[in-house]
Amino acid sequence: MGINDDQQAPLTIAQARAEWDVQKAFLDSCSYGPPPRRGWDAMQRSLDQWRAGSLPWQPWAESVDTSRELFGRLVGVPADQVATGAAVSQLLVPIAAALPDGAEVLIPDIEFTSGVYPFAVHADRGVLVRTAPLNTLAEAVDESTTLVSFSAAQSATGEVADIPAITRRAREAGALTVLDGTQAAGWLPLNAADVDFLAVAAYKWLCAPRGTAFLTMPTEATAADDSHPRRAEFFDRLKPLAAGWFAAGGAASYGMPMHLADGARAFDISPAWHSWVGMTPALELLLGVGVEQIHTHDIALANRFRAGLGLEESNSAIVTIDLDQGKLSWPGALDRLDAAGVRYSQAGGNMRFGFHLFNDEADVDTALNAVTDTMTS
Ligand SMILES: Cc1ncc(COP(=O)(O)O)c(C=O)c1O
Repeated sequence: MGINDDQQAPLTIAQARAEWDVQKAFLDSCSYGPPPRRGWDAMQRSLDQWRAGSLPWQPWAESVDTSRELFGRLVGVPADQVATGAAVSQLLVPIAAALPDGAEVLIPDIEFTSGVYPFAVHADRGVLVRTAPLNTLAEAVDESTTLVSFSAAQSATGEVADIPAITRRAREAGALTVLDGTQAAGWLPLNAADVDFLAVAAYKWLCAPRGTAFLTMPTEATAADDSHPRRAEFFDRLKPLAAGWFAAGGAASYGMPMHLADGARAFDISPAWHSWVGMTPALELLLGVGVEQIHTHDIALANRFRAGLGLEESNSAIVTIDLDQGKLSWPGALDRLDAAGVRYSQAGGNMRFGFHLFNDEADVDTALNAVTDTMTS
């Protein structure tokens, strides 16, 4: 199978699932996403090439541009609006540095650290990180807010943000928006054009190796906002602070003058080659299935799990159970999950289960059987 372009019929979930060798019942996509076989194989081939010294490096580096283009398709922007890097926190550095002294950054009170600390480290120049509950984040935006940074799906709880409400209010207030799509891209349809910046670490729901991440940003033309001097001033200050030879377009270069690549590519850092080789086939596969189809599948599994636990339906592929809720008996449930081979994670005091395209109803039922046996009513 090659790239499934728009003309080809989408792959079914069953066809896609056949590409995974993941053990039963892996329900931990919130921590990391096992690769499809085509991604694993491509990466192993490139590691062999490296080991034997049989190829130049350029074909590995080309995977970065291919992945950039594929990710752009996934979130609805052209490749020149996509920067590549190694981690969300790293990609947010230039954004945080462009904030003026004394700027206020608004975040949900349970936001994952990588979307918080890049801003919080600027406290010495008066940058203030203010928190508000996720469900009232839109109302918390006010005229003093310079930037709102929030996750599309929360790491600790799986809660899905009301992106239209938050971005609408931010736009009214002239505030910039940074959306962290790490726990969402790959199962939740995201449109990068809804926000100023969309940052995604690809090693979870995009099933890529660690060391791969994306940041989308507006073009110079779309960033210009005469009605909001504060926004215009911000984009004037935005600089590719980690610029090196890769930010110059990917061919080795020397000395001055500086020739940065056009568009978001100037924000690239030198890539972890082999990880990007493993990423490209994974993105092709996810696009071949289509996020809408994955969304329907993942939510159905999550809601089957929720129903079995006596929880209401939700719009998230992530289900969390509060360890202090008292409904489950500990450590019995943990022991039973381990004995059944269920992989899940603990985050922010919650047990966290993620349901993705390689999972099926049997995975849900394996986890349910382990957990519900220990439930108290
Ligand atoms: C919402 C969110 N953002 C980002 C990350 C990863 O951050 P980084 O790429 O800085 O390691 C995670 C990892 O758990 C996450 O849950």
